[in-house]
Amino acid sequence: MSVSTLSVPLADDFHTHLRQGALMRAVTPLLKPSGVGLAYVMPNLKPPISNTEQALAYKAELEALAPGVEFMMTLYLGPELTPDEIHKAAKAGVAGVKSYPRGVTTNSDSGIESYTTYYPVFKAMEENNMVLNLHGEIPSDPNNDVCVMNAEERFLTHLKELHRDFPKLKIVLEHATTKAAVEVVESLGETVGCTITLHHLTLVVDDWAGQCHHFCKPVAKFPHDREALRRVIKSGHPRFFLGTDSAPHPRHLKEGPSAAAGVFTGPHVLPYLAHILESFGALDQLRHFACENGRRFYGVAQASSESVAVLVREPFTIAKEIHFTDDEGQERALVPFMAGKTLNWRLQ
Ligand code: DOR
Ligand code: ZN
Repeated sequence: MSVSTLSVPLADDFHTHLRQGALMRAVTPLLKPSGVGLAYVMPNLKPPISNTEQALAYKAELEALAPGVEFMMTLYLGPELTPDEIHKAAKAGVAGVKSYPRGVTTNSDSGIESYTTYYPVFKAMEENNMVLNLHGEIPSDPNNDVCVMNAEERFLTHLKELHRDFPKLKIVLEHATTKAAVEVVESLGETVGCTITLHHLTLVVDDWAGQCHHFCKPVAKFPHDREALRRVIKSGHPRFFLGTDSAPHPRHLKEGPSAAAGVFTGPHVLPYLAHILESFGALDQLRHFACENGRRFYGVAQASSESVAVLVREPFTIAKEIHFTDDEGQERALVPFMAGKTLNWRLQ
């Protein structure tokens, strides 16, 4: 018989985009109602968060918008980031550094072009127990047959080399989308972890080709790739954990002549998770995947028993859009993942 309520700790989202300005003020207060108690925040703002001071100021803004949520902050890897800044950031509690290869996704114009250039930074991070968060794609290159479909697989050599050269550095391959990536992470040591999003557990290529609200980077891949993501969660592997990569963009930028990359799962993280995990027989892994594995990997104490969410098996229909007023005073809408569809679980 299937259960009708589930009591779990608030989820830890180890990869989310909370933006800045009006968009930040619209999406950050949704964390708690969405069932999230810890948010690991991406630094790809304009300009990027590239020093300790900016990260702390950003954290204070987020805390004011979502009291009771634990925020873990990251810096953007770029030429400004020195080993000295890493020592300072680590002392101030900044948790990680996010690396974006140049030009592969939203606000990655100042992303990196070579990993070896940053070896002194990685060494300082290793010494300070800071985590390297990798956007695992290489830039498209038609001359070398590289495009969005194989950009992640081709990146995996960099992951292996980084782990070989910095075996004690904690590295997270973010938002894995391929069987190849899952297998490489499984094969590497204890210091390599991996986030999986809600949408990559759901979508394949056919779902984003021609459907702008499902377009994100990395793109969802083949059914066998999605199967590998599901399989590793079902197996209970301790180094795989939830990172939603919730990435809100106003409707006009998703539906415009070129679609902004990002799927917005922020408003209903726990109900989506229960619905999706149950759809492939992994509901029993919810707690490991979303409340325990990430904390263990990052060395963060397990959540207090007070931060509990109760999921109820009742039909829950996702809103068609969420309204907000942008920085220019324009009325805008955000379209959540599975807008207008009905989930089997809601939060009490
Ligand atoms: O789809 C994505 N959206 N992938 C990323 O890596 C960035 C994100 C965003 O910031 O919009
Ligand atoms: Zn992201």
